[in-house]
Amino acid sequence: MLFFVDTANLDHIKEASELGILDGVTTNPSLMAKEGISGDNAVLQHYQKICEIVGPGHDVSAEVISTDYAGMVKEGKKLAELHENIVVKVPMTVDGVKAISHFSEIGIRTNCTLVFSAGQAILAAKAGATYLSPFIGRIDDMSWEGIDLIKEIVEVYTTQGYETAILAASIRSPLHIVQCAKAGADVVTCPLSAIKGLFYHPLTDIGLEKFLADHKKSQLS
Ligand code: E4P
Repeated sequence: MLFFVDTANLDHIKEASELGILDGVTTNPSLMAKEGISGDNAVLQHYQKICEIVGPGHDVSAEVISTDYAGMVKEGKKLAELHENIVVKVPMTVDGVKAISHFSEIGIRTNCTLVFSAGQAILAAKAGATYLSPFIGRIDDMSWEGIDLIKEIVEVYTTQGYETAILAASIRSPLHIVQCAKAGADVVTCPLSAIKGLFYHPLTDIGLEKFLADHKKSQLS
């Protein structure tokens, strides 16, 4: 399972990259706004910076703002030209699916976002999306089991042999990451805090403290 970090914060991206386990980055308009990035040029420059931090071979999802087919195609082409790492993120709408299909025909990679059902996942795969982003945290927020959606899509994609990668999004915790790995997600995109949460176990800390204390004692005797 690939690890993407879900943020537009350059410090978080650098920190995740330095961990040595980062495969890519996802952003969305809310995450860009949170970093105070506004205006077309500033947004493009920010994507460029993200691509430079993560380096070659690390996909960076950049989302279109247009909601109509023509606008999505124009915007997506501009984003794709920016850097070879860019994957154009397109919402799951009728125009979005049409745009994904077009991008697929002309070799532009896509991430179909705002997916909340297996039916939507089928449409995105048929259109040739590179990645599919089901939002599991937002389903949990409505008191349903978000992870069940990942399990269902994994079953459908495996049965049908669809090649679109399942990129589990809207991750809120280390538990979500483990659940996604068990369910067979291809990628998980998470806030840095959720990735860092995977490191910690009190028995690791206690065990290390004891090893170091025993080593110190043995050096004194
Ligand atoms: C990523 O591609 C999504 O935009 C993101 O994971 C949404 O997360 P949220 O539900 O925490 O906003």
